[in-house]
Amino acid sequence: MKILAIESSCDETAVAICEQRTVLASCIASQVEEHKLYGGVVPEIASRRHVESISALTKQALEQADCTLEQIDQIAVTAYPGLIGALLVGVNFAKGLSLSTGKPLIPVHHLRSHIAANYITHPDLKPPFLCLVVSGGNTHLVEVTDYTSFHIIGRTRDDAAGECFDKTARAMGMSYPGGVHLDKIANEGNPMAYALPHPKVEGCPWDFSFSGLKTFVINTIHRCEQKGETYHVPDLAASVRYHVCEILVEKTMAAAKEFGYTTIALAGGVSANSLLRARMQQACDQAGYTLYLPQLNLCGDNAAMVGVQAYYESLSGHFADQSLNACATKNIEEG
Ligand code: KG4
Repeated sequence: MKILAIESSCDETAVAICEQRTVLASCIASQVEEHKLYGGVVPEIASRRHVESISALTKQALEQADCTLEQIDQIAVTAYPGLIGALLVGVNFAKGLSLSTGKPLIPVHHLRSHIAANYITHPDLKPPFLCLVVSGGNTHLVEVTDYTSFHIIGRTRDDAAGECFDKTARAMGMSYPGGVHLDKIANEGNPMAYALPHPKVEGCPWDFSFSGLKTFVINTIHRCEQKGETYHVPDLAASVRYHVCEILVEKTMAAAKEFGYTTIALAGGVSANSLLRARMQQACDQAGYTLYLPQLNLCGDNAAMVGVQAYYESLSGHFADQSLNACATKNIEEG
C-alpha cells in the first residue's frame, strides 16, 4: 500500500511516498534561509512558501518513487498541531488530491509522526516504549502503548526545550535556528562555567519547565551587555546545553523506572542534539535499557515520518472526509 504524505506544519514543505515503513521518496523544501533574516519563523511567509512549493514537491516525490498518482493508495497529511496558516496549505492540498482522485484521506498528528521517524530508522522497534518528544514547540514524555495509542505522563508547563535553546542562542547572537548552532559552539565550552538554575516543578514530577532557565540566561546576557562586560559564548552555550540535557535525561530515566519501561526512544528536532544523544545513551547503557534514536536527517520535520505513521493510522481506521480542518493545537492522545 503506497501512501503519499504531506507535511507543512512549520517552515519545511515536505512530500514523501511510503510503503509501510519503507520510504520510496522524500522531498523537502526548507525555508530556513528566509526565516533566518527575521531571527525566527514568520508564519505568513511560511504559509506563502508552502503554497509555492507544494505542487512541484509532489511531482518530484512521484518521480523519485517512480510512480504515478494513480498508483498511490492513500493521501496523508499533518493536520495538527502547528502554525495554522501553514497547516492549512497542506490540509487543503491533501483534501484536493483526495477529492480529485477518490483516494482515502488520513490526518496525522505531528508529534505522532516525529515518534514514527524511529520506525524508519529501526525496523525492529515496536510499542510499547517510552518516548521523549523534544521539538521547537513541545517537550513531552509519552508512553507509546501502541502505534496509535499514546499516554502523556509529563509535559512542559511553559517553554519547550527547543524554545529554550533557540532563544538563548539568539540572545548570544547566533542565527536561526539557534539550537543547531548552540550545539556546535557548546563543544568548545566548559559546561560547568556558569551556574544555571535547575528548575523545580511542583505537582507532577514528570513535567518540565524551561522558561526560568531561559530567562535567567537572557538576563545574564543583557546585564553583561548593559555593564559593558563580556561573557564567554562557548562556555555559556555549553552550560545551557548541559543543564537542558541533564533535566531531560534525569526525568526520562526516572519515569522509565517508575513506569517500568526498559525501551526508550527520542523524537523531534532537539533529538539531533549531540549531548542529549550521548548522555541518553550513557544513562540507558548504565541502566541496561535499550535506546532508539532517530537518524539525524529524520529528527527535523519531514514527510517520510508522516507517511509511516499514516500507515498505522489507516490500520486503525483513522480516516477523514472533506470536512477535515487543520488545528493549531491538539493533544497527541486524541490525534
Ligand atoms: O521538530 P522540529 O524540527 O520542529 C518542530 O516540530 O518544532 O524542531 C525544531 C527544533 C528547533 O528548536 C531547533 O533549534 C531544534 O529543534 N534543534 C536542535 C538541534 N537541531 C535542531 N536543538 C538542539 N541541538 C540540535 N542539534
